[in-house]
Amino acid sequence: MNYKDTYARSMDDPEGFWGDAAADIDWYKPWDKVLDSSNKPFYRWFSGGELNTCYNAIDRHVLNGRGDQLALIHDSPVTDSQTRYTYSELLDAVAKFAGVLAEQGVVKGDRVIVYMPMIPEAAIAMLACARLGAIHSVVFGGFAAKELATRINDAKPKVMVSASCGIEGKRVIEYKPLLDEAIELSEHKPDKSVIFQRPQATAAMQEGRDVDWASAAQSAAAADCVPVAATDPLYILYTSGTTGVPKGVVRDNGGHAVAMKWSMKNIYNVDPGDVFWAASDVGWVVGHSYIVYAPLLHGCTTIMFEGKPVGTPDPGAFWRVISEHGVSVMFTAPTAFRAIKREDPEAEYLKKYDMSKFKALFLAGERCDPDTLAWAQNTLKVPVIDHWWQTETGWGIAANCMGIEELPVKPGSPTCAVPGYDVQILDENGNEETPGQIGRIMIKLPMPPGCLPTLWQNDDRYVDSYLSAQKGYYLTGDAGYKDEDGYLWIMSRIDDIINVAGHRLSTGGMEEVLSSHPDVAECGVIGAADQLKGELPVGLVVLKAGVNRDDDEIVAELVSLVRQKIGPVAAFKKVVVVDRLPKTRSGKILRGTMKKIADGEAYNMPATIDDPTILDEITEALLRIGYAQKH
Ligand code: COA
Ligand code: AMP
Repeated sequence: MNYKDTYARSMDDPEGFWGDAAADIDWYKPWDKVLDSSNKPFYRWFSGGELNTCYNAIDRHVLNGRGDQLALIHDSPVTDSQTRYTYSELLDAVAKFAGVLAEQGVVKGDRVIVYMPMIPEAAIAMLACARLGAIHSVVFGGFAAKELATRINDAKPKVMVSASCGIEGKRVIEYKPLLDEAIELSEHKPDKSVIFQRPQATAAMQEGRDVDWASAAQSAAAADCVPVAATDPLYILYTSGTTGVPKGVVRDNGGHAVAMKWSMKNIYNVDPGDVFWAASDVGWVVGHSYIVYAPLLHGCTTIMFEGKPVGTPDPGAFWRVISEHGVSVMFTAPTAFRAIKREDPEAEYLKKYDMSKFKALFLAGERCDPDTLAWAQNTLKVPVIDHWWQTETGWGIAANCMGIEELPVKPGSPTCAVPGYDVQILDENGNEETPGQIGRIMIKLPMPPGCLPTLWQNDDRYVDSYLSAQKGYYLTGDAGYKDEDGYLWIMSRIDDIINVAGHRLSTGGMEEVLSSHPDVAECGVIGAADQLKGELPVGLVVLKAGVNRDDDEIVAELVSLVRQKIGPVAAFKKVVVVDRLPKTRSGKILRGTMKKIADGEAYNMPATIDDPTILDEITEALLRIGYAQKH
């Protein structure tokens, strides 16, 4: 079936469509209802059904003859090592580690926080939780202790799983002190921490609380899969919200497994046995969906890459991995390609590698600028597909569905809505915009399987944040338009979220940190355009009256405060002290105008501005730190 008909069927008969897709998953008990609309606006998929996600990702492949096929390859240029797991070996490791967790008292419904670098044990811990019906919450390693503590307080985990260190390029980053500090800071205290010791650093263990992964795994009995309801949570993944408090996006078991499995063939056009590589981190949604769950549910070999696109050791790293492991489809963020292009514009490194198995490159996480798209197309000579999604949906909302029908690429657009998603552009009154008109991008409820059913123990915030802008619709937080051919164009966020190297960050969260500095009276953080990372945060701060310390000293303190409170991932390095901030007459800081100034773009004088002369001062200040250059 072509794209148009497939999409139409998903809209006209969602229950038939997803009921058919669910036949690709093994169920202990079939569902009563494909789509349960009995408690609107909380839609549930496959209610009454029972399954186990880990069983579907590993056990059934072993039972069906894939035991000797590679399931996971850990490729780690930073430790100069590679580790391979067949499906049978992965099953042993996961069942063992599920046994370790069970020995620590973890049972169905308990939460386990996983704070891990990019090592196989991160995936093993996630799958072990799924095996027991426990709910994992993976926290990205680049977050600071305070961010980890916030998540510990919200998820209230029984057990933490971590490692002694991560490796960033040549730097060894010790995780255990961060973990200890987070537990110190948090109100909720987990019972135990299971620590994987890596040879690059040895974590100091706390008697009675900390458990050594290796020795516990030696003596643990393998644990079996526990059936869970399709609607039971598989995981919680925290993502930036419009305040400093992150949102706990919940993913269910049934809808997620169905959507993940369906997406592998229909969006990515890969088959069981193919090698699939998502160059992201398990701490992000891309890592959850396309490093761990989807490729394994589909019987593929997945790659976990502990390195960077450049510098580990060179800009040929991606091509090496593709050729060495026979990758057929790769998925990463455009920023990674910008990094490669910057260091090796003629793609000289590519000449060293055999890329014959490589079929397609998928990009997401941020808008793919047409230059990067063209460079990737010309360099790789395979289809390059931009697709749009977010933590909340867990998989593509708009894509060129390569397994259904390859549509013509329009540079700058992630193509059309994926089957299951009724994407509409609405104006302020809730009416659909005409083609070409920019509006709020919304998804008419119900969203397809796999999308968030709610926020962790916070139905009210789920409704407030996502469902209250327009009754019957989910607010994506992105603005954009649809063209005459139904292609979507994602233009900007409508909230305070910025996108730094494909990482989603809240400027509101950074402002909270800056405001906590004793010398700061008020501040604004904007996402200024950056050639490599897409956007970079820039802070503008007004000091309290009477503060007469050196500005440079305060700036250095502010930079280190954000690193300490949010983490290095915020990439917060630019701050400038100003006398005052531009505001509307009602006192709202004009961040949008400041962003335009920083980017050297023309702007209209906001009609409601209190005092227009401030904008000249802001321009001067931003020029001092290298922004506001006219193009
Ligand atoms: N643990 C600890 N620190 C981490 C970390 C982790 N897991 N991940 C990143 N950091 C640190 C980095 O070391 C860096 O610190 P620094 O300021 O001291 O240099 C900071 O956080 C920012 O990291 P990053 O955004 O990765 O920037 P970078 O300059 O190291 O690399 C790119 C730039 C473009 C190469 C890199 O961002 C990249 O490969 N991106 C790929 C896109 C991606 O994975 N997106 C995720 C969604 S698909
Ligand atoms: P995250 O939840 O971290 O995956 O970030 C989701 C946000 O990243 C989206 O809401 C968009 O703002 C942005 N985004 C992701 N993919 C794309 C894309 N292909 N094009 C434009 N923006 C994107």
